[in-house]
Amino acid sequence: METRSHNPKKKKPVIRIHNLCKRFGEQVVLDNFSMELYEGENLVLMGKSGSGKSVMIKCMVGLMEPDSGEIEVLGNDILKLKHHEMDELRAEIGFLFQGSALYDSMTVQENLEFPLRRHTKRMDVNNTDALVEEALESVGLEQTKELMPAELSGGMQRRIALARALILKPKIILYDEPTTGLDPITAKEIILLMMNIQEKYKTSSLIITHDVDCARVISNRMILLLEGTNYAVGTFAELSASEDPKVKAFFK
Ligand SMILES: Nc1ncnc2c1ncn2[C@@H]1O[C@H](COP(=O)(O)OP(=O)(O)O)[C@@H](O)[C@H]1O
Ligand SMILES: [Mg+2]
Repeated sequence: METRSHNPKKKKPVIRIHNLCKRFGEQVVLDNFSMELYEGENLVLMGKSGSGKSVMIKCMVGLMEPDSGEIEVLGNDILKLKHHEMDELRAEIGFLFQGSALYDSMTVQENLEFPLRRHTKRMDVNNTDALVEEALESVGLEQTKELMPAELSGGMQRRIALARALILKPKIILYDEPTTGLDPITAKEIILLMMNIQEKYKTSSLIITHDVDCARVISNRMILLLEGTNYAVGTFAELSASEDPKVKAFFK
């Protein structure tokens, strides 16, 4: 697989995070973390397990409240949004949760309809089937509508979760460890799929991963989360050539 690159500097940020702080009791998780996600780019966020990546992404979509800092999503200061305003904004953000997080008791079709029901304004009742079908087609699983998640392989579950994340045609997709727990071949398929989706839907994506192969293939830019802050930012080529031992440790 080839490395991709372009110049995202000219583009406008769709997410801007400034000096985000979050602690749980005595434990400081985020300590003045800042980053920007530019329109159309694939930004990879790497960090050790337990370093606060999921906490950061949850703050971004209003599932968790930071102690301080600024979070701007598509021009909205999300810490000032009212409940219903945040809900509307969430329709613009696809979220692939760590480990797929499908509803076990729902069929694939029902899982995909879930975000449509939550955002009724976007849902044309007559159109639901078409949206479900389009999303399933995007992940190559048109035949699975009536199946339960338990009947699917791990890779297929991840694809369905991806279909659910993009069914509202979001401007931004947040991927929390999209390849973790998958075998290398399935992981590669998911990465290719993410790249196809990027092409098709022109989304801006933040990808949390510690899969170096995934980062190499998919990132336009990378950011390393270390000691609660944005320790290093650059392209894969730049960061993987770094002499800083702390940065080097990520690429072993
Ligand atoms: N709701 C919570 N309450 C208390 N501690 C939490 C909570 N969520 C996360 N943490 C702690 O914050 C740290 C970062 O967690 P997380 O963001 O999930 O790490 P990761 O980088 O692996 O995604 C961990 O030490 C975790 O135990
Ligand atoms: Mg996590």
